[in-house]
Amino acid sequence: MVFKLRERKIEPFGIERWFTKYEYKVDINVAESGIQPFTLREILNMGDEEFSNTKIGYIESGGSKELRELASQTYKEKDWENILVTTGGLEANFLIYSVLVQEGDEVIVEFPNYQQLYSVPRFLGAKIIPWKLREEVNYVPDLDELNELVSPTTKMIVINHPHNPTGSMIDNKMLRGICEIGEDNNAYVLSDEVYLDLKPEGHVLDAACDMSSNAIGVQSLSKSYGLPGSRIGWISTSKGIIEKCHEFREYVTLCSNVLGEKLAIIALKNRDKIMERNKQIINKNFKIVENWINKHEELFWIKPSAGVVAFPRYSFLLESIELCKRLAEEEKVLIIPGRLFGDQDTEYHFRIGFGYETEKLEKGLGIIDRFFERIG
Ligand SMILES: Cc1ncc(COP(=O)(O)O)c(C=O)c1O
Repeated sequence: MVFKLRERKIEPFGIERWFTKYEYKVDINVAESGIQPFTLREILNMGDEEFSNTKIGYIESGGSKELRELASQTYKEKDWENILVTTGGLEANFLIYSVLVQEGDEVIVEFPNYQQLYSVPRFLGAKIIPWKLREEVNYVPDLDELNELVSPTTKMIVINHPHNPTGSMIDNKMLRGICEIGEDNNAYVLSDEVYLDLKPEGHVLDAACDMSSNAIGVQSLSKSYGLPGSRIGWISTSKGIIEKCHEFREYVTLCSNVLGEKLAIIALKNRDKIMERNKQIINKNFKIVENWINKHEELFWIKPSAGVVAFPRYSFLLESIELCKRLAEEEKVLIIPGRLFGDQDTEYHFRIGFGYETEKLEKGLGIIDRFFERIG
């Protein structure tokens, strides 16, 4: 007898499927949305920790008090009980949705977006209401539109700025407006803030949990910090929601890995040094990508305001999955098809990352030049 799979369906995670298929087969990866990861030695050199006697045991399921305290100090008036350590931003988002969203709820999500932010609530039975970020207005969300979309069945408004994949930004005035709409409608605001530390110098944008008691923030060491392999992230919000997510986490991952937490503690103690190094990489690489886009008539972009990714539109007639597939298979260079970030409007775009090694970025762009000549 052939056993028939009887799974409960969740939409495949397009961008992660793409990485699974190509990441380890290409020669040059300019698709990443983070910053050149630190080596273990570089992080250890910043601290005075002795690692070799660390017991590889279970650790506190909410994260160690030291790490939670350090994370809480990145907010205005929070303490360690307002923080729950998670396995990256992915687990953080997953826990929040699992605890707060149920069948029949409406969840307003910016589009385009990182797919987890709309596919997981959809899987949980929520109705996803897209809040469009439009190219014509630099992908900045419109509060009047949010007011039209919100309803008594809205459970949550989900935002992500600096934004993946467009690099768009909001400011405190807009964040306050979003939180007020949430409060007036008894809806939570989930703010995926994994790029927040990369906001430009002088730009004022607070963490959402510092703005409203209805707001929930998600952070990670994967993006702005350059430690994706630590698999450390966290949730910042009211103690009540933290407690609910903590209870749920005990069914999912229970706790983080002890080595990741130790690295996270060193990283948070050296936050300024880490951000300094990372911003230097971004500034240098951003100029390279900017010059590259400007010399191509086939490319148009809304210059990202922050973050490490750009989302150019192109004029070739190939659809984005086909274009990026050919680039990966024929030239061994990886970028991400725009189509994997949401609806039809993302077609004829691709996402490119500029947080990794400058040399590889330049080499990758040179190969893409030749590919464009070939298909143009
Ligand atoms: C907006 C956003 N949120 C969350 C994540 C998850 O990252 P991690 O689980 O590595 O922290 C990503 C990764 O690309 C992302 O872009």
